[in-house]
Amino acid sequence: MRVLHVAAEIFPLVKTGGLADVVGALPPALAALGADVRLLLPGLPAITESVLHPRLVWQGGPLFGAARVAIRLGRMPYSKLPVYIVDAPWFFRRPGSPYQSPQGVEWADNLQRFALLGWAGAHIAGGELDPAWTPTVVHTHDWHAAMTCAYLAANPAATARSVFTVHNLAYQGLFSQGDFGQLGLPSAFLHSHGIEYHGQLSFMKAGLKYARRITTVSPTYSAEIATHEFGCGLDGVIRGRRSDVSGILNGVDTAVWNPATDPSLVAPYDAQALEGKARCKAALQAQMGLAAQPDAPLFGVVSRLTSQKGLDLVLAALPALLAGGAQLALQGAGDPVLEAAFQAAADAHPGRVAVRIGYDETFAHRLIAGADLIMVPSRFEPCGLTQLYGLRYGTLPLARRVGGLADTVTDASDEALRQGSATGFLFGAATPAALESAIARALALYREPARWRAVMHQAMAQDFSWAGSAARYLELYRVMTGEPH
Ligand code: ADP
Ligand code: GLC
Repeated sequence: MRVLHVAAEIFPLVKTGGLADVVGALPPALAALGADVRLLLPGLPAITESVLHPRLVWQGGPLFGAARVAIRLGRMPYSKLPVYIVDAPWFFRRPGSPYQSPQGVEWADNLQRFALLGWAGAHIAGGELDPAWTPTVVHTHDWHAAMTCAYLAANPAATARSVFTVHNLAYQGLFSQGDFGQLGLPSAFLHSHGIEYHGQLSFMKAGLKYARRITTVSPTYSAEIATHEFGCGLDGVIRGRRSDVSGILNGVDTAVWNPATDPSLVAPYDAQALEGKARCKAALQAQMGLAAQPDAPLFGVVSRLTSQKGLDLVLAALPALLAGGAQLALQGAGDPVLEAAFQAAADAHPGRVAVRIGYDETFAHRLIAGADLIMVPSRFEPCGLTQLYGLRYGTLPLARRVGGLADTVTDASDEALRQGSATGFLFGAATPAALESAIARALALYREPARWRAVMHQAMAQDFSWAGSAARYLELYRVMTGEPH
C-alpha cells in the first residue's frame, strides 16, 4: 500500500497545534505496519532547512503566480520517511506561521499557496511529477491540503483514492469567488455541488465533496459535525456524505510523550514509581512562582487561547477553584483579550495563579508533568491531545464532555470509581456552574489520596499509542482500494 500524506505542518519542524503532532506521528506508525508512506509538505523555511539529502525530481512554472516551482524528494529528519517538498520560495520562504504573518495577519495569497500544495499532491498521484513512485492512497489533512482532492478529481491521469481528515471544521480556507479562475479547475467545480460556498470558495469543502472517504479525529466529533451545532455551516454537506464519514481517534507519540524518558522533566517517573511526579510539581511551582505547597491541588492548562478552548469558563470559575485551596498554572497564546485576562488573574493572585503567555514545547511537558489536573473545557474538540498527554502523565483531565474528550476520558462518577474505570472528570454544559461542579468533585477526590492515586493509575494504564489508530487507517485504505496491506 503506497500512501502519500499531504499537510501544511509537521512536528517538530512547524507546529501551530495538534495537527502537527498527528502528521509527525501517524505516517511513521503506518510505515511501522508495513505501508510504503511518503509525505508532501510546503517548502517552509524550517522544513527546507531540515530535510535530508533533497534532490530535484521536477522543475516547472509558472504556477499560481510563482515563476519557479520545484518538487524535491528528501528524507525527514527523525522518522527518515521520504518527503516531497514543494519548493516555491515566492510562496513559502517566509517567517511567521504557515498561514499567517508574524503579526497574525492571514497571508494574502493563501489561495494560491495552498492550491499549489493540492495541485502538487494530485500530480504526484498522477505520476506526472515523479514517475518513479505513485501512491495508491492520498491522505490529506485539513483545508490546507484539501484542494488535492479537487485536483485529483480533475486529473484523469490519477487513479489514487483520496482520504480527507477533518482536524478542525472551524478553519475552512474561504476565499473570494472572483479568484476561481486562478485555480485552473473546470467551471463545473464552481458549483454548490463543488467548492462554491455561499458566494465564496471553500477549500474545506473541496475535501468534503471530492475525497473518496472523510475521517475526523474522534468518533464523537464525526457524529457532531453532521449537526447544526457543530457543523460550522457544513453540516448539510457532511450529512450528504454520511456513509463515507468515520472517526478514528488520534494517538500519543510515546517517543515524545513518556514521563519515564522525557528529557524535559527534572525527574522521570512512571506508574510504579511516582516520586518523580512530586519533584516535577515542586519544580513547576518554583519555576512559575507558585507557593511551594505539595498538597495544594495544581490545575494546569496548556492551550491555544481561542474561544474553541472554553478558557473563559476557567476565568469565571477561578474564584471557586481558589476557594478550594487550589493553584492554577497556565501556558498559552492567542486571543489578546484572553491573554490579558489571565495575566490580570495572575497579578491579582500571586503565588496561586501563574501564567506564561507564549508557546514553549519543553515547558508544556514540564507543566503537564507537574500539574495534578489538566483542564480542557473546550466548546468543541475534534480530538484533543493535551488530555491524552495528561492521562499518560498521571495528570487527570478535567474536560468538557464533547468530541474526542468524551471519547478518551472516563468521568469519575460513583459508578466508575467503584468499577475502577475512572480516569478524569467530565462536565456537560459550557457554563461556569457546570465547570465549578466538576472542580468541586475533583477537589473532594484529591482529599482522598488513596482513591486519587487509584484514578491516576487507571489513567496512566490507558493505551492511546498510535499503533491501534494507524491500523484503523490501514484498514480504511484497504477497504477503499481493495488492496491487502
Ligand atoms: P489544538 O490542535 O486544537 O490546539 P490539541 O490538543 O490537539 O489542540 O493539540 C494542541 C497541541 O499544541 C499539543 O501538543 C499541546 O501541547 C500544544 N500546545 C498548545 N498550546 C501550547 C503552548 N502555548 N505551548 C506549547 N505547546 C502548546
Ligand atoms: C485540531 C483539533 C484538535 C485535534 C487536532 C489534531 O487542531 O482542534 O482537537 O486534536 O486537530 O487532530
